[in-house]
Amino acid sequence: MNKVNKNKKSIKVKEIAEFYSYWSNYPRYYNFLSCFFGYHEYLKRKAIKMLDIKDNNIILDIGCGPGSSFKLFKKYGEGVQIIGVDCSSGMIEKSSKRKVDKVKLICGDIANMKLLRVNKAVSIKSFSAILEHEKALDNVYNSLLKGGKLVIFDMVPNKFMKFLRYGKSYQEKDLVKVIKRKFKKVKILKYPLGVFIAVIDR
Ligand SMILES: C[S@@+](CC[C@H](N)C(=O)[O-])C[C@H]1O[C@@H](n2cnc3c(N)ncnc32)[C@H](O)[C@@H]1O
Repeated sequence: MNKVNKNKKSIKVKEIAEFYSYWSNYPRYYNFLSCFFGYHEYLKRKAIKMLDIKDNNIILDIGCGPGSSFKLFKKYGEGVQIIGVDCSSGMIEKSSKRKVDKVKLICGDIANMKLLRVNKAVSIKSFSAILEHEKALDNVYNSLLKGGKLVIFDMVPNKFMKFLRYGKSYQEKDLVKVIKRKFKKVKILKYPLGVFIAVIDR
């Protein structure tokens, strides 16, 4: 897996993967922290609604973690197919325990893998953890079929993120700026505590 130079330190995707695999052993704490007293859970559902999922859609879940969004995608139809990608083998293992049909799981770095063509792609708090986030954005965008949609729910760096995240990976990453620069058809919705939802149309 690739290395990225950041703040003169060399961070590897493997390090991020190990960090999240550690958390995958503590699902209760992970779920408690990641729902952020219900606030993030509420916005996650809102972000998924913005994907405008249709029954026959193929959905790419970027940094799917323990697969906590899979059932929410299925609310839009049993025909929905899910591709969950995560660099952490522990998270992929947790995802595989979900009792959800039509799910394909891939363990790897989203920035450096060949992706299948999909109708919709979503990232729930994953882009701020992805080292080569610009490369990943291009890769995911290029995987979208015409008329497809990419929805990103994330945070701009702020003091709360130090508690929530693997600090080394997201520092100095202004995702909103990058997304605005890269894509023309984009809508950004901003929420308290640096949270945003970006809706990108292809
Ligand atoms: C904060 S967690 C969010 C997980 C999930 N989306 C959720 O809502 O619970 C970020 C996830 O991104 C994954 N991740 C980080 N860098 C990645 C990369 N380069 N490629 C694929 N997954 C990555 C991590 O392993 C982790 O599971």
